[in-house]
Amino acid sequence: MKERTAAKKTEVEKLDYFFFGRDQEYNELRMEFNAFRTGRKAQSLLITGEAGIGKTALVNRFIQEVDESKCLVLRTSCFQAEEGFYYKAWDELMNAVSKYYDHIGESIPSAIRKMIGYLFPSFISDEFEVQEYEFEKLDIIKNHVVERAVLDLVQRISDRIPMIIFVEDIHWMDRMSLALFKSLLMKNKNKSIFMVFTGRKGEYDPIEKIAAEGSQYGTLRRICLERFSFDETIAFAETYLEGVALKEGVKSQVFKETDGNPFFMVEILNHIRANRSFQGLTPKMQDVLKSRMNLLSDSAKKIINIVSVFFDKVTFDNLSEISGLVDYDLTEAIEELINNDMLNEVVTDSGMIEYRFTHQKLRDFIYESLSLSKDVFE
Ligand SMILES: Nc1ncnc2c1ncn2[C@@H]1O[C@H](COP(=O)(O)OP(=O)(O)OP(=O)(O)O)[C@@H](O)[C@H]1O
Ligand SMILES: [Mg+2]
Repeated sequence: MKERTAAKKTEVEKLDYFFFGRDQEYNELRMEFNAFRTGRKAQSLLITGEAGIGKTALVNRFIQEVDESKCLVLRTSCFQAEEGFYYKAWDELMNAVSKYYDHIGESIPSAIRKMIGYLFPSFISDEFEVQEYEFEKLDIIKNHVVERAVLDLVQRISDRIPMIIFVEDIHWMDRMSLALFKSLLMKNKNKSIFMVFTGRKGEYDPIEKIAAEGSQYGTLRRICLERFSFDETIAFAETYLEGVALKEGVKSQVFKETDGNPFFMVEILNHIRANRSFQGLTPKMQDVLKSRMNLLSDSAKKIINIVSVFFDKVTFDNLSEISGLVDYDLTEAIEELINNDMLNEVVTDSGMIEYRFTHQKLRDFIYESLSLSKDVFE
C-alpha cells in the first residue's frame, strides 16, 4: 500500500511506505550523519520515547538514506529476556565483524580471536578448545583485556571503512554491553563509527546515564520523540486515509483514543479503513485490538496468547511443547500471525528461528487481556 504525505510530498516521494512528519528529528539525524560522513565533528544519537512512538520507524526511514556501499552498517537489538546475560547485545556485532573478515578474505589474528572467544564463544572456530574459554566466573581483569581487544578490532575495521552501528531497545541492554558501547563512544568519538541507539524513556536508568555522559563529552545527542499533537494526529490520519476529510467528532475521538501515539493511530486507522466506518463513531482502542484478535483462528489465538507470556521472543520448539499442536498446525498458526502482522520471524546467527511481537503495545494488550484459561495452557 503506497500512501503519500501531502505536506511532505517531495520528501516522501522516494519512500514506498507511509512515513509522516518527524521533520525536525529526521533533520537532526541527517545533520549529524552528514557531519560524520564528511569528517566533521559529529555526535552519535540516542532516540528515546515511549513504546510505539516511532523510534524504529524513524531509524528505518534514516537507514534508507545510508549508502551501504560506502560504509559498513551493523544492527543489533536488545531483548527483555536477555537483560541478565553479559555482553548479549554485542553477540550479533561480533558475528558481523567475523563475517566482515571472511568477506574481505582476511583472517583475524589468532591470538585476538582466542581472546575474544573468551567472551563470545561463537567467535572461535572448532580449531580451538572451546571449553578452555568458557565463562566460568566473572573475571574483571580478564574481561577488561578482552573488552580492549574487542574495541581494537572494531576500531581497526572502521579505519578501513566508516561504520554505522544501530542498536535497538537499549532499555533492555545488559550493563556490560552498555559499558562497552560507552567505551567505544569515548574511544572513537564518532570519528569513524557513528552510532544510533533507540530506547524507551524512563524505563531504565542507565539510559539517562549514557545520555548525560554523552552530552557532557559532546559524543552523544539525544532526540526525544513526543506524541503527535492534535493537528499532527489529524493530518497523519487524513493522509493515511488518502485524503479523506474527517468530521470534527471523529477527529476528536481519534485523538482521544490514540493520544497521538502512532502505534495506536495505525491500528485505529486500519480498522476505520477496513470497516469504512469513519463517518460514524470511532471504536475504542481496546475494541480495535480485540476485533483483530477475534479474526484469528483458534490455533492462532492460542499461539499468540502463549507468545505474550514470554518476555519477547520464543522458539518453534517452545511453542510446540506448550501448545501441544502438531507441527503442521503450529506452522499454519504462525503463518497466520505473521500474515496478520502480529508476529515477526527472526533467524538468529546460530540458525534458530524465533518469533516476537511486531509491537510491544500489542503484546501488552494481549498479555493484559489474557485470562489464564485452561485452553491456553492445556
Ligand atoms: N512517523 C511515522 N509515520 C508513519 N508511521 C509511523 C510513524 N512513526 C511510527 N509509525 C508507525 O507506528 C507503529 C509503531 O512505531 P515503532 O515500531 O517505530 O515504535 P517504537 O517507538 O520503535 O516502539 P517500541 O518501543 O515498541 O520499539 C509502526 O506501525 C510504525 O509504522
Ligand atoms: Mg522499536
